[in-house]
Amino acid sequence: MKKKFLLSLLSGGLALSAFAQAPLSLPFVAKDTLYATTDFTHSNTVQAKVLFSADLNYVINLETGDSALAKGNHDFTGYLPINGSSSYGYIIVNHEITNTRNDILGDGGGMTVFEVQKDANGEWQTLGSYKNVDFTGVGDDFSHTRTAQIALGKALFFDPVLSGNQERSCASCHKPEQGFSDARVRSDNFTSDATLGRNTPSLLNVAFQQSFFWDGRVSSLEEQVKDVTLNPSELHGNFDTAALRLKNSAAYRALFEAAFPNSRYAQINGAAIQKAIAAYERSLIALNSPFDQYMRGSLNALPKKAEQGFNLFMGKALCSTCHFFPLFNGTVPPHYRKTENEVLGLASSAQNKTLDQDSGKYLISLTPLHIRSFKTSGLRNLSQTAPYMHNGAYPDLKSVIEFYNRGGGQAFHFEVENQTLPADSLGLNMQEVEALVSFLECLNDTSTKFQIPSQLPAIPGTSDRRKLGGAY
Ligand code: HEC
Ligand code: HEC
Repeated sequence: MKKKFLLSLLSGGLALSAFAQAPLSLPFVAKDTLYATTDFTHSNTVQAKVLFSADLNYVINLETGDSALAKGNHDFTGYLPINGSSSYGYIIVNHEITNTRNDILGDGGGMTVFEVQKDANGEWQTLGSYKNVDFTGVGDDFSHTRTAQIALGKALFFDPVLSGNQERSCASCHKPEQGFSDARVRSDNFTSDATLGRNTPSLLNVAFQQSFFWDGRVSSLEEQVKDVTLNPSELHGNFDTAALRLKNSAAYRALFEAAFPNSRYAQINGAAIQKAIAAYERSLIALNSPFDQYMRGSLNALPKKAEQGFNLFMGKALCSTCHFFPLFNGTVPPHYRKTENEVLGLASSAQNKTLDQDSGKYLISLTPLHIRSFKTSGLRNLSQTAPYMHNGAYPDLKSVIEFYNRGGGQAFHFEVENQTLPADSLGLNMQEVEALVSFLECLNDTSTKFQIPSQLPAIPGTSDRRKLGGAY
């Protein structure tokens, strides 16, 4: 990750009506018109001067937070910071982020990513540009999120029928009102005599990820449903037993038939259950935060302080070298097909006294480089998902940023030889820390609502036992 840098050139209402007619002919002239100067403005920011021809509503100067109006189709010169002294990076021009797949990829917008590199003379050159990039990277998978599959998956998600004792459901730990995470450091295990090893992550925008779990050990949501259902610490279930229970229900039989007409998933079995729950999970998209509104051209949606925080995030604080726009997770531009893991050297509590002992991805790969390596998680809806990190050790965003500000585990003298986070201090003052928090708060989408079902489908003889959303 260190060598890649994200430059984000933000253009709001990029001639949306024009795109509606001709989505593939974006008015960018990438090659030859894009260049950057190499002057450093402070230790870890270099200014990039970008010239391109586009029909823009505005461009933000990431250094000062000033936005410039550039209506009409004409050349525009903007200044952007590049993280570090790198010679390689991306400029992402965002046309529109909305909350449906069609709008992301269809006529309404998309992303153009310019890949840039410094040449031997120190001049920035465009290596290539990628138009209408599918930042979701999910390809055709979305075709499976049909309404009937989502409806079935939703019923199963809130129904404890899959668990061994019919008391737990996915919603026991992934609660809609908590951004589909829970407010605990770690959830209780199946027998409630211990806690699980890791904090429960949010499921919002999970459709756009390429790997799942904190260590990235599975690569599809379908596989993930299987892992959780069979896991003795989580649902301690068994698909055959669950299928027998579901077949007994006329209401569930009707839901399965509607979800998988004439397909190989028409049977009530593990594969169909996995497919349906994964379809429901893919429908949990929340991309209408104040930040998204700002990107779409509502300049007032972001307070000045948050705008400054965004500049810090992209510049001095180096956050964007790992948390990539637009989900601010580890899924890497320009193709968004791969999700990165990193070693931060987290402490076991926010006092930063002792090193966390979870070996992370090493437990899967057995590669020493992966000791304590975890997936770079997304930063949306953090207001609903505290406490933070795989161990839930950090109760608020200030304590997270303080950890980064000092330089991660090595700065606290923990033994983490393979730390990938630079160990020197970021030198952020209190006001800058607060600006970063203010920016992160603007990534909360609380306007997109997810309804919980009003009741569970009837299964004869079990209705008293199965509590909507699970007993725990
Ligand atoms: C007992 C609490 C609990 C229950 C019940 C539970 N989960 Fe989870 N879930 C977790 C925890 C903890 C993790 C993180 C585990 C890890 O990374 O090792 C997780 C991870 C996930 C992830 C990965 C998210 C990401 O960003 O990588 C998905 C998706 C998920 N769960 C979906 C489900 C579904 C679907 C169900 C029901 C079939 C379910 N969970 C049931 C606690 C739970
Ligand atoms: C070297 C890569 C890297 C850099 C730089 C980085 N992060 Fe992270 N971030 C991660 C990884 C990896 C995780 C997950 C770590 C874990 O749980 O073990 C994470 C997790 C987080 C979380 C917790 C999310 C959650 O759901 O629990 C927050 C908040 C966060 N980062 C904010 C920031 C901010 C703000 C900055 C800049 C000051 C930053 N990060 C810089 C890699 C990075």
